[in-house]
Amino acid sequence: MHLKIHENYESLSRQAANEIIALMKQKPEAVLCLASGDTPRLAYSLMTKMAKDEKIDFSRCTFIGLDEWMGIPPDNEGSCHYFLRRHIFEPLNISNDRIRLFDALSTDQKGECKKMDKTIIEKEGIDLMVVGIGMNGHIGFNEPGASVEGYSHVVDLDAATRTVGQKYFREHTLLTSGITLGLGHMQEARKVILVANGTKKADIIRKALEEDVTPVVPASLIRKHVNAYVMLDREAGSLLTAK
Ligand code: PGA
Repeated sequence: MHLKIHENYESLSRQAANEIIALMKQKPEAVLCLASGDTPRLAYSLMTKMAKDEKIDFSRCTFIGLDEWMGIPPDNEGSCHYFLRRHIFEPLNISNDRIRLFDALSTDQKGECKKMDKTIIEKEGIDLMVVGIGMNGHIGFNEPGASVEGYSHVVDLDAATRTVGQKYFREHTLLTSGITLGLGHMQEARKVILVANGTKKADIIRKALEEDVTPVVPASLIRKHVNAYVMLDREAGSLLTAK
């Protein structure tokens, strides 16, 4: 794992955007898994602008969904679907056949997980995963205690995730379970970028990067990945002792 503490949020976002663009130039048929959330939003906006300016072709890549709130329809503004459409798929003009997201309304949850795992195998794995970190150390909806080698699964959301998740929704929304790729997918991705900014993430970043590597803090598993890049702003990195 490689760590870089940036001067500010814009600088870390620019580096993340550059990495996505560099991959697309090198491998236009890449398989991308880009998390939704507040943290990567600026990176995606810089990335889509660069893609337009430099006429980067995203038409051959595949987008894999990282996670989704179970029971929340794709047209709900708080859903991961909605976020990805608005911030990535629409600006880049991505056609539906290049997009594989979890169906959070499916009544066959196991089938939905199997379908996603099969897709990733058929696509020969994920080239680049961009993830954030939850206040409880989750990655996607790999909540504390998640299986280290797990693949797609449906999970009861941690109390912290249910509460913090309200920020994405216009009105109070019952968030009980989520569907997510597993930590096994993260370990097997050819490259992983974790982005975090702001003082509120400083303590969980310190736990993930400087305490034990343990599923109790799922993001700590990123330290076992040889091609993982953690990009922080100064605030998020402020409690690290070995800066
Ligand atoms: P955030 O979410 O980027 O909105 O802070 C991160 C996460 O929960 O993974």
